[in-house]
Amino acid sequence: MTAGPCRPFTVVVVAVMVMLVCFDASFQRTTFQVCHVCEGALQNGTAVGNFCSVSSGQADGRCCIETRGLDADSIIGLDLSNCSLREVEGLNEASAAKIIDLSANRLLNFNDTVFQGFTQLQHLMLPLHLTCPGGNASWEKVEARGEIRLCDGQRDSCNQTGHMTWDCPENGLCAADGPGFFQCRCTHRHHGYKCLREGQFPLAEVLGILGGATVLVAILLWVTQRRKAKSV
Ligand SMILES: *[C@@H]1O[C@H](CO)[C@@H](O)[C@H](O)[C@H]1NC(C)=O
Ligand SMILES: *[C@@H]1O[C@H](CO)[C@@H](O)[C@H](O)[C@H]1NC(C)=O
Ligand SMILES: *[C@@H]1O[C@H](CO)[C@@H](O)[C@H](O)[C@H]1NC(C)=O
Ligand SMILES: *[C@@H]1O[C@H](CO)[C@@H](O)[C@H](O)[C@H]1NC(C)=O
Ligand SMILES: *[C@@H]1O[C@H](CO)[C@@H](O)[C@H](O)[C@H]1NC(C)=O
Repeated sequence: MTAGPCRPFTVVVVAVMVMLVCFDASFQRTTFQVCHVCEGALQNGTAVGNFCSVSSGQADGRCCIETRGLDADSIIGLDLSNCSLREVEGLNEASAAKIIDLSANRLLNFNDTVFQGFTQLQHLMLPLHLTCPGGNASWEKVEARGEIRLCDGQRDSCNQTGHMTWDCPENGLCAADGPGFFQCRCTHRHHGYKCLREGQFPLAEVLGILGGATVLVAILLWVTQRRKAKSV
């Protein structure tokens, strides 16, 4: 007798719990691993620390996190100096960073692709013996300061001799993609290999064909499996 009236109540309770879990998850800020690979926190008086104070960022481990605007919650500064790093990899979480400090580490070398996509990067500090990613030509100013190599002011790779827009196909536009990198984006109404296809990408048609195929396969499977089940 009590089961009847209880059921709607249970449903409501479960729904509320699900909503609370979702609510909680969406309001939890992403935690970045790269901010905690090195001991300690961002220090006042360091290059990244000062940058963070000036740009009203929030320190999280070795990171400076943007608190306002469209880039809110992304890493805008990263200080991995004096951290016994031997190699640089997995910086992807910091691809929106404007300043990165990798000085005072025993880095032997690094692959320039580590900084591919880092279009916002304006200040990079490396151990003196390393060269700036993309070479000197990718930066406005490259200089030595004590034991540190400074790479300042990233140049647009699309605006350099050797990386002219003619590297892109006829219907493609050059877009900067980090120090020394660029990518070709097809212009309006062109797509596909070398941007040679004209017209909008036929999304509706492709989805229609995929959907139709899925339904057909499902029906086919259902029919064959049912036969099998009957014959067993
Ligand atoms: C750094 O200095 C600024 C002002 O000089 C201060 O507001 C901030 O709390 C300091 N941060 C740390 C981590 O000490
Ligand atoms: C580097 O880190 C060590 C501890 O890990 C610390 O004792 C030393 O003062 C740091 N050096 C600099 C220049 O911050
Ligand atoms: C750099 O990384 C890219 C992609 O991860 C790889 O294809 C390339 O061979 C690497 N270059 C060197 C010199 O290791
Ligand atoms: C890049 O610039 C630095 C500092 O001006 C200089 O020492 C170095 O030789 C340059 N490297 C090349 C390959 O030109
Ligand atoms: C391209 O380079 C020229 C001269 O070096 C400069 O005046 C211009 O502002 C640059 N354009 C872009 C989009 O960086």
